[in-house]
Amino acid sequence: MGTGASRNAEGGSHGGEEREESLDQSGGQLYVSLKMENYKKKGDLIPHVYGSAPLIGSWDSSKALPMERESASRWELSFVVPPNHETLDFKFLLKPKYGYMPCIVEEGPNRILRGGTLQGDARLALFKLDNEEVLEYRVLIKADRVSPFDLAASWRAYQENFRPSTVRGIPDVSIDAAPEAGRENGSSASLELDLEHYVVPAPSTSANSGQVYAANLAENPRSLTFAGVSVDRPATIKEMEVVIPDPSKVYSGSGMVESKSVGTFSPLQKQDSHRGLFVDRGVGSPRLVKSASQSTFSFDLKLDTETKNSMPAAAGAVAAAAVADQMLGPKEDRHLAIVLVGLPARGKTFTAVKLTRYLRWLGHDTKHFNVGKYRRLKHGTNQSADFFRADNPEGMEARNEVAALAMEDMIAWMQEGGQVGIFDATNSSRGRRNMLMKMAEGNCKIIFLETICNDERIIERNIRLKIQQSPDYAEEPDFEAGLRDFRTRLANYEKVYEPVEEGSYIKMIDMVSGHGGQIQVNNISGYLPGRIVFFLVNTHLTPRPILLTRHGESMYNVRGRIGGDSVISDTGELYAKKLANFVEKRLKSERAASIWTSTLQRTILTASPITGFPKIQWRALDEINAGVCDGMTYEEIKKNMPEEYESRKKDKLRYRYPRGESYLDVIQRLEPVIIELERQRAPVVVISHQAVLRALYAYFADRPLKEIPHIEVPLHTIIEIQMGVTGVQEKRYKLMD
Ligand code: F6P
Repeated sequence: MGTGASRNAEGGSHGGEEREESLDQSGGQLYVSLKMENYKKKGDLIPHVYGSAPLIGSWDSSKALPMERESASRWELSFVVPPNHETLDFKFLLKPKYGYMPCIVEEGPNRILRGGTLQGDARLALFKLDNEEVLEYRVLIKADRVSPFDLAASWRAYQENFRPSTVRGIPDVSIDAAPEAGRENGSSASLELDLEHYVVPAPSTSANSGQVYAANLAENPRSLTFAGVSVDRPATIKEMEVVIPDPSKVYSGSGMVESKSVGTFSPLQKQDSHRGLFVDRGVGSPRLVKSASQSTFSFDLKLDTETKNSMPAAAGAVAAAAVADQMLGPKEDRHLAIVLVGLPARGKTFTAVKLTRYLRWLGHDTKHFNVGKYRRLKHGTNQSADFFRADNPEGMEARNEVAALAMEDMIAWMQEGGQVGIFDATNSSRGRRNMLMKMAEGNCKIIFLETICNDERIIERNIRLKIQQSPDYAEEPDFEAGLRDFRTRLANYEKVYEPVEEGSYIKMIDMVSGHGGQIQVNNISGYLPGRIVFFLVNTHLTPRPILLTRHGESMYNVRGRIGGDSVISDTGELYAKKLANFVEKRLKSERAASIWTSTLQRTILTASPITGFPKIQWRALDEINAGVCDGMTYEEIKKNMPEEYESRKKDKLRYRYPRGESYLDVIQRLEPVIIELERQRAPVVVISHQAVLRALYAYFADRPLKEIPHIEVPLHTIIEIQMGVTGVQEKRYKLMD
């Protein structure tokens, strides 16, 4: 283990020996692993653990945590101890997995683990049964101090090999026995097989981009609108009065480094690229960086018009680095243009939409400009393949013209404060790219993002999707005729296609196939470009569901108190069982799925009845830190701290609880979780908290930052986000009222 020593206490026989090692207190989190070996199965009794905070916090045996089976002869419970709870006071007990009685508590005093060191003797666990029979079990109590990064790295290693990893000699996760067929957790927890029965309508503004043609979500062409209203007739070239730079003129802008060093990132070598590109994986303490204030930074990250003159939108760690870059760099670097390059049907628009969503969620003012949208508005939707021939001068002029219009709009928007423009077109010839670089000179920095795909099956799938979804073929009743036309269009582009070799670029090569692929980068530097590369390395198109749910109702929910680390109520427990049932049915064929919780016990307890899937606790998934208000009711805050109450009401997104967090802080600490969710190929069930789920949901549903604190995320409801090749779709299941 790289970050500290480990301390083992093993009861091998009565009075078994204890090995003493000093524990490095220098940092990281305490990772505790409790194991019970040589377990002789006694009916359906299962070893459990209960005790003081943060195990369950109540010494109530009905709330004891089951030890999850690692192998036939060993039971295990492992967890990360929150930093402010380093003393564990606990006991083992035997009880039926889901019932309460009979419950047999181990003999002897409580076991105390302080700062990772076991106090007193290590001993066997002894249980006296009613008939005076005594059961003895060897136990292993192990505490390691693990850095958040190592914890996440170890988890990734586990994921990739799908067996408990031995990085630093500790298992990261444990897997319960797979559920037995037909097992039910009592009638109260039963869930009818028909999951559709539980579907409730999603809010009208939720994730539905899967049904919409992605390019239509791009920015509305302003140069093609009159008094803000889109033209519904093709405009003439005269009306537009556009000066089109000569694309054949070779770009000679200064400061552009020629292609010399090409770095390669492969998703198959992710461990290293993670380390190289991004160090804080966010499993550990949230990175609380003081917000930058408007008086410190002269530019405006523009959240929305009303809040234009207040704090930059993305206050927090990410913004601080981005802000520093923008202040120190050349003027034109304050605006970034990501110019897509690639043949048709290579997933450019999909990539543009995803990147726009990600950057916006992080608080960067980002817009997607789709040149196809401009073309359709100006020249209609049914141009044949001839329009796209390189030896058709009218077609070439018309296409360069709409590209120039879109670029002009993008630059105008940047001059008004826009930060990142995603310029979506084929831009497949050097001439076209020269034109764009010329236009960008002194206005913005350009990074080309080339999408290359050599997988015929994927190209074929994309072509078919295009005919089904693109407005270009909406009026073509004959699918086969549409296909023929599009293939001819593609061939016209292929004849003149020139891969990017100039300027700053990122090449995504076969990244969507799901079998490796690579990213090449050239002349990329700075905070935001680095983030973009990191995001692109981790995204893919493998369809899979992400299930988001709050924990079952907690005791604090019942009392109307915020924050805390309370256990779940009886209603919450019922939900936990129903959720386990739901997960079992919904993911029954998904052996690689995983369950993510926060480190707070209400989510861990909610996950506890789920069997057969690995579970991991992320500190980044902990609820918004209410600081000095933690444990209060909203009424108490209003009465005792009226100014705080009013400030939060006025600006819930930016308001930071004294010694706690704001929603913006939460978003910043969730960024590694988003990256990890993007990277996963198997389904993930995220059991977390209201504020955290609002922020995660907003990412998938592409909801503006200012709406995040008000998004509806009710208790006892599962939000299923289906990640697919055409975008994101949402379904909600309400398991209980
Ligand atoms: O009330 C439940 C809870 O999860 C609190 O712990 C948390 O402070 C709150 O919701 C977040 O919601 P809001 O931002 O609306 O107060």
